[in-house]
Amino acid sequence: MASVDTPVNDALQRRLSIANLVAQVGIIVTGGAVRVTGSGLGCSTWPMCEPGQFAPVFHEESTWHPIIEFGNRTLTGVLGIIALALIWSLYRKSAPTRRDVRPYAWAVLALIIVQAVVGGISVWVTLHPAVVGLHMALSLGLVSLSTYLVYRLYRPRATDPAALPRLETSLHVAIAAVKVAVAIIGVVVTGTGPHSGDADKPYRFAIDPLFITRIHAGAAWVLVILVAIATYLVAKRSSLAARPWLVVVGVLLAQGLLGYIQYFTGLHPALVVAHMLGSGLTVVAITWAIARSYALDTRSNSREPNSRLGL
Ligand code: HEM
Repeated sequence: MASVDTPVNDALQRRLSIANLVAQVGIIVTGGAVRVTGSGLGCSTWPMCEPGQFAPVFHEESTWHPIIEFGNRTLTGVLGIIALALIWSLYRKSAPTRRDVRPYAWAVLALIIVQAVVGGISVWVTLHPAVVGLHMALSLGLVSLSTYLVYRLYRPRATDPAALPRLETSLHVAIAAVKVAVAIIGVVVTGTGPHSGDADKPYRFAIDPLFITRIHAGAAWVLVILVAIATYLVAKRSSLAARPWLVVVGVLLAQGLLGYIQYFTGLHPALVVAHMLGSGLTVVAITWAIARSYALDTRSNSREPNSRLGL
């Protein structure tokens, strides 16, 4: 059975959904900056920066760690404001009713609150890698949710999951599962490496970094192979529908290359942050490509009126 979303556009809702997605990917980069500069304990407690002080107070001997850590905390507030604005835009009387999208926007706000608490707990447990890793994994979940939200606002088109070949829907499930595995193993790799977020006494997982990096890279290769098969199957049906999948192939190969370069160049901080950004972009590309595969207009080469790139 085809389910048809309300075919309406609202510029404000769309812009806010894009702002939310950009901010969610952006905070991965600023969070990465906190980690690689060893600023994770720049504020010694949470929700206050220091006991009795919400913001850092500077003395002559102060370092820049509190500024970086407090800046990242402030960004969480910006994320919350954008999410609230998006929710408001979805309830405006003057705007088209998009009840179908509202639960996703509420879920984004709820996850931002969860993230603030997990970030706080990571400070309380002096940056235990399991909590820092959970923080990153949740961020990637938020990026996926935010991408889907943009998708729903930009492409309120008919969908029909049942019309897609079973092999392709199974591949989507496998791709999503392996992507989650690559991310989880990735945060474990980070938990064995030098960039814990604490400049002084980093606590690390007692796992051989080389062994776990090999598992991570192996899982990434499985992901590349699954995506290549999905792209081939879609391309046989429609070259237009294959475009989002070709983007996934490109982003994945770039991310994999970056992974090897950062590993073989001793985990340079800038490359580690770039790899974190790449993992966010990989999630965006995969979420979009999977969501797009279920749109009825991807079954043939017919171009949508507002689809300039066919994405
Ligand atoms: C192509 C798909 C890939 C994805 C989606 C991916 C994703 C990730 C993620 C999510 C993290 C955790 C970042 C964090 O905790 O902040 C990570 C870490 C890491 N990845 Fe990948 N990765 C990929 C491929 C690779 C490859 C092929 C290598 C090659 C060796 C690699 C090497 C690493 C290393 C060394 C780290 C730890 C960096 C650190 O110390 O913080 N990755 N990756």
